Amino acid sequence: MARKKYMLGNWKMNQSLEDIDNFLSTLDNANEFSCYWGIAPQALHILRLMKATKRFPNIKVGSQNCSEQDFGAFTGEIAIQTLLESGVSFTLVGHSERRSLYGESDELINQKVLKAQSEGLLPVFCLGETLEERESGKMESVIEGQLVKGLANVSQKNIVIAYEPVWAIGTGKTASPDQANGAHEFIRKVLSEKLNWDADKVSILYGGSVKPANVEELLAQDNIDGALVGGASLKGDSFSALCKAASI
Ligand code: PGA
Repeated sequence: MARKKYMLGNWKMNQSLEDIDNFLSTLDNANEFSCYWGIAPQALHILRLMKATKRFPNIKVGSQNCSEQDFGAFTGEIAIQTLLESGVSFTLVGHSERRSLYGESDELINQKVLKAQSEGLLPVFCLGETLEERESGKMESVIEGQLVKGLANVSQKNIVIAYEPVWAIGTGKTASPDQANGAHEFIRKVLSEKLNWDADKVSILYGGSVKPANVEELLAQDNIDGALVGGASLKGDSFSALCKAASI
């Protein structure tokens, strides 16, 4: 079935203001991208990026993280209401760096997804196994656990899933199109069997060393509906090539 295509850039803790200007000056034919496309910059650059991209009405600016709380005494956190007030369209939730470096649990991630949905902000729910988990045959149980716990009581409306095998993130090692497609197929099976979702309707993005040279064969797979991209989203020409590939 035809699902919407996505191309999302995750700039992580990168890009100076000058880098952002360079990115924008090398973004090519952005008004012709027909996919859902956007960038999650560092939080302090969200408003700046929005202002600088007024000429691209279709760009979606996203957040790399959000709080599961309302306003209050939560030093260093970002409220979803503040993101919405700033015009943010989506938020990553549960990126592997948040899970491994900042100890985010499946339960916390679940609260963030629920909160984002209830406030009307699109959550991009990230999951994926480590190399050790894959090599020891635990890939499916890890993915199932992340889905079942992270998406407990979550609606399948207004959510995007991003499968990012940890061993492929920032390493230059991409999952082969078959490996990625197989994992996405398994994710759909879990969504339908364990969560009773109509899984064919859910968009699942692949992430992990996606670049212009491999994006087409990944996007050609039945179960891959777009990509979440780190390194190759930092330069305007490379990100444009990715968005073009998702706009076909
Ligand atoms: P990468 O990062 O494209 O640099 O591998 C992907 C991600 O972490 O979302």
